[in-house]
Formats: sequence, structure tokens, C-alpha cells
Amino acid sequence: IAYHTGILGGMAKGETEYNAEMATAAATNLHAAAGFEPGTLWLEGTEQGAVEGSRAKAEIWSDSEGFNDAFMALETASADMIEAAGTDLDALKAGMGAVGKACGACHDDYRGPKN
Ligand code: HEC
Repeated sequence: IAYHTGILGGMAKGETEYNAEMATAAATNLHAAAGFEPGTLWLEGTEQGAVEGSRAKAEIWSDSEGFNDAFMALETASADMIEAAGTDLDALKAGMGAVGKACGACHDDYRGPKN
């Protein structure tokens, strides 16, 4: 997720040259990752404090409905990004807003502080 968002973000910030084909591939892969079945991604019992290095909050499991909604928000934003990324740089930049919001919203509620 971070890798493909980084490719899109780099283009949005002008750090790398806009390339419609690469941007579409990054958005397609981001969307695929956002569509992963979450059951294998966040294993219950791996919250911060229980496993070294983890920043997962226990709310991932105690509020699994909210967490799934947050993951779904990224799936939706990244789906819109596929078309935006291939259109032009302005569309890509606009799409980044919704993607970034989906990342931030979930991190705010379900990711703990730095270890
Ligand atoms: C549905 C919730 C959710 C969404 C959406 C989400 N994240 Fe996260 N992310 C997490 C959680 C929870 C952790 C902490 C996982 C852990 O430490 O076990 C995390 C950790 C990370 C990390 C740190 C990884 C590491 O090795 O410690 C990065 C980078 C990251 N997210 C990037 C992103 C980006 C970029 C997006 C949006 C494109 C995003 N995330 C969307 C929940 C989410």
C-alpha cells in the first residue's frame, strides 16, 4: 500500500515526472491491495504491546465493523484513482486527496503512537 501510494505521491508532488501508464499501474495495484481480504493482514492478538514493533490498536478487533469501513474507504478512493491517475496530473493530484484521507482516517483511529 505504501509503495504504490509513494509512486502516486511522488508524481503529485512533482518529485517524479508524471507518467500515465506508471500512475495507472500504481493505482491499480494500490486498489488490489486495498481489496485484500483483511483476515490475513491484521491478526488478532498482534496489537501494540503484545508484539514487538506493532502499532496496531486493539480497536481493529473490538470495532471490526468500523475498521472494515475504513479499509473499504481506501478501496473506494483507490478505485476512483485508477481512472484519475491515467487522465492527467491534475486529476491524479485531485485523487490523492481522497486516498490520503482514507489512509489518515484509519491511522487516526486504528494505529497507535510510534514505538
Ligand atoms: C483500514 C486501515 C488502514 C488504512 C486504510 C491504511 N492503513 Fe496504514 N496502517 C494501518 C495500521 C493499523 C497500521 C499499523 C500496523 C502495525 O503496526 O501492525 C498501519 C501502518 C502503516 C505503515 C507503517 C508500516 C510499517 O512497516 O510499520 C505505513 C507506511 C502505512 N500504514 C501506510 C499507509 C498508506 C500510504 C495508506 C493509504 C494509501 C494506508 N496506510 C492506509 C491501517 C491502515
